[in-house]
Amino acid sequence: MGNNVIINADVAKGTINKNIYGHFAEHLGRGIYEGIWVGEDSSIPNTNGVRNDVLEALKNINIPVLRWPGGCFADEYHWKDGIGPKENRKRMINTHWGGVVEDNSFGTHEFMMLCEMLGAEPYICGNVGSGTVQEMSEWVEYMTFEGESPMANWRRENGQEEPWKLKYFGVGNENWGCGGNMRPEYYADLYRRYQTYVRNYGDNRIYKIAGGANVDDYNWTEVLMKNAHWMMDGLSLHYYTIPKEWADKGPATGFPEDEWFTTLKKALHMDTLITKHGTIMDKYDPDKRVGMIIDEWGTWFNPEPGTNPGFLYQQNTIRDALVAGIHFNIFHTHADRVQMANIAQTINVLQAMMLTEGEKMILTPTYHVFDMFKVHHDATLLAVDGQSSDYELGGESIPQTSVSASKDADGKVHISLCNLDHQNGADIDVELRGIDLGAATISGKILTAETMDAHNTFEQPENVKPVEFNGVETNGQSVKVSLPPMSVVVLAVE
Ligand code: AHR
Repeated sequence: MGNNVIINADVAKGTINKNIYGHFAEHLGRGIYEGIWVGEDSSIPNTNGVRNDVLEALKNINIPVLRWPGGCFADEYHWKDGIGPKENRKRMINTHWGGVVEDNSFGTHEFMMLCEMLGAEPYICGNVGSGTVQEMSEWVEYMTFEGESPMANWRRENGQEEPWKLKYFGVGNENWGCGGNMRPEYYADLYRRYQTYVRNYGDNRIYKIAGGANVDDYNWTEVLMKNAHWMMDGLSLHYYTIPKEWADKGPATGFPEDEWFTTLKKALHMDTLITKHGTIMDKYDPDKRVGMIIDEWGTWFNPEPGTNPGFLYQQNTIRDALVAGIHFNIFHTHADRVQMANIAQTINVLQAMMLTEGEKMILTPTYHVFDMFKVHHDATLLAVDGQSSDYELGGESIPQTSVSASKDADGKVHISLCNLDHQNGADIDVELRGIDLGAATISGKILTAETMDAHNTFEQPENVKPVEFNGVETNGQSVKVSLPPMSVVVLAVE
């Protein structure tokens, strides 16, 4: 079987919400501290405490939304510890992640400032597991109430006169696990109660996100939708790509070829999960009003040897780039239900965009995929049909290629293509309907590498980076795209 694709440039399938290119930054390891926040007095160049190199890199990929403060940290976080004069803020132990001191120097004001600097929507995750309804309700009041009230007055005393705009609010995180080990029935009731006090003040409208299922816990989705769908705007889903098992996930570099294969096979599983959870959501919400919010996804490998295992620091290779490309193509295809996704996590944690070492910062292969794919933000999803060759290893088989396409506001068509095969190139015949190819120009970028674990280091920061792609041959209304092994390509047709 060959690789054949038909793209219907005049058949619109909906809009790709740019929020699927969202991020997640938790108080975990060097994710916030050092990764983003170095403080005003740092020798690392910064703007109001936020490191400049990271700021510029994130701006370049048009990060649309940022989830904070966790993760598991969110259900242990008490927001009042992180406001007011820094010298008075509580110093505590981050019990969940590495047992290090959390000095609360990055709190609500710093996070909101960061989002403003980035032009990103804040997505705050509230504490259900160890917090009270009052605490959650007061946080929302503190951030968004414009009138006279104890919380709004306190915000003003702390230097923020105007209320912030806050759109996305999560009512707990992983409440089946670190967020309280609850049964879905119990959490559904708590969700109903807590969200009641997540109020809309003035013209601020909060999009409420209920804590969703772990991987294939379809019963969780069923119970939440059945008991609370009309009280939520979004329902989350968490799924990490882990090559082996939980206790020994496999290394981020120096892995054997079967781990390349299983990693990509597991990345493709996201499609099944969205379809099955989506089918349950359809039962209660056939109009797809409730968004599926995949607010934690990405690779999870063994931590880098010699680092604090509680910091979840891992290298990032061309394999991660493929995982990202596969996920985005899947999210695009489910644009009718998937309204946001937040990669875990932005910097120095799990599948990061950037890694830092003191004042040095490098971009990872995953960063480059976010950069290449940003052309799909808020674009119109196009109908794509076709078939893929098989990619076989050890008696198992997965599709060799993954493709999606969109049309932007200027009528430019972008096609993103991945070749998952670590050994063989893939020739894809792409028939483009609804465009006069004779009058069009095609350009492209490619991210690829010679070895399965090619990555960037502080010594060689540009080992893996996108370059111009020349593997396109036009023939009438079709193009032949020749993808080398292990590659991610984005084409622009205009
Ligand atoms: O991203 C790391 C952790 O993974 C998050 O804190 C938690 O929500 C998930 O289990």
